[in-house]
Amino acid sequence: MIRAGIYGATGYTGLELVKILQRHPAADIAFVASRSQAGKTLRDLFPAAPALPLVAGPDAPLDSVDVVFLCLPHAAAAETALVALAAGKCVVDLSADFRLRDAASYAHWYNHTHPAPELLAEAVYGLTEVCRAELPGARLVANPGCYPTSVLLALRPLLCSAVPLAGPIIADSASGVSGAGRTPALTSHFVEVADNFSAYKIGRAHRHLPEMEQAIGDWRAGAPPLLFSPHLLPVPRGILSTIYVTLAADANEADLRALYAAAYDGEPFVEVLPPGETASLAHVTTTNRCAIGLTLVGRTLILTSAIDNLIKGAAGQAVQNMNAMYGLDETTGF
Ligand SMILES: NC(=O)c1ccc[n+]([C@@H]2O[C@H](COP(=O)([O-])OP(=O)(O)OC[C@H]3O[C@@H](n4cnc5c(N)ncnc54)[C@H](OP(=O)(O)O)[C@@H]3O)[C@@H](O)[C@H]2O)c1
Repeated sequence: MIRAGIYGATGYTGLELVKILQRHPAADIAFVASRSQAGKTLRDLFPAAPALPLVAGPDAPLDSVDVVFLCLPHAAAAETALVALAAGKCVVDLSADFRLRDAASYAHWYNHTHPAPELLAEAVYGLTEVCRAELPGARLVANPGCYPTSVLLALRPLLCSAVPLAGPIIADSASGVSGAGRTPALTSHFVEVADNFSAYKIGRAHRHLPEMEQAIGDWRAGAPPLLFSPHLLPVPRGILSTIYVTLAADANEADLRALYAAAYDGEPFVEVLPPGETASLAHVTTTNRCAIGLTLVGRTLILTSAIDNLIKGAAGQAVQNMNAMYGLDETTGF
């Protein structure tokens, strides 16, 4: 049995992790930690949750676990990671703290000096379909952001091919409100969000941009720049990304489809949709799946990519990564 501890268990991604690990046949939850709710049980906060006792982060019994999941805000996650790593534990961090390899870029985008820049090179960027060979034995996994998971899985087969591209790549992504986490804020207030649909931090202003461009740069030297426009969708969960890529030469859709079919052949959680079908939240909500649609219009390839932000975009991918770290079938627990 893998013994797991969850920090930030009272948040949205933490609660999803509890749900998945509870039904996982090869993992046990050894502790759930909370900064502000220690002494209560998870059931006190979420009526459908198990009555696991919440412990304060510093009191969490690290000696009782093999791996910890950090469902914490950035900065708090890195501080906790350092403690867990020093205790010899493996860490799957759901925050952004170890996703960017460049500490200066992290400081720029997250307004915070990285407390452990020496660990950035070691952290495995946990887009499981891409990094699974690096996961067995990894000490520190940086679980990807939710928007990047949807955009990168859709772009990867194309970027890793020889198909010539003309820039820029344009990604319009719409996320359900749980993407903003559980802490109340005016921008995620029901009255502000319901019956509304709005874009925010458009173009090159969102923190997930450098994360996506880092991966894109790894996959294709000289790739076109990315324009990324997130939107707030008035549903609880789910992300739909619509991505426009201009090809530099004529292509046909069947060849592009063959590229995607080959790239994701046998992938348990990635489905390339048949011709004419576009991805939707209904393909993926409450699952660890990513659905990808392709449509070629002239020289523009339009990709649609849907995930559940809390599962494939967070807790589900974190467990998929844990499974690969410990040599289990990636689908265990799903
Ligand atoms: N929501 C998503 O779709 C999503 C997707 C991918 C990645 N992520 C990332 O995953 C992490 C967790 O996201 P979330 O949506 O679950 O957030 P959340 O709902 O706001 O939960 C975060 C939890 O962390 C605890 N916390 C808050 N500030 C803390 C601090 N300074 N020190 C220690 N604990 C603190 C809080 O619980 P207590 O007060 O009980 O301790 C809170 O419940 C974030 O880094 C987020 O960016 C989120």
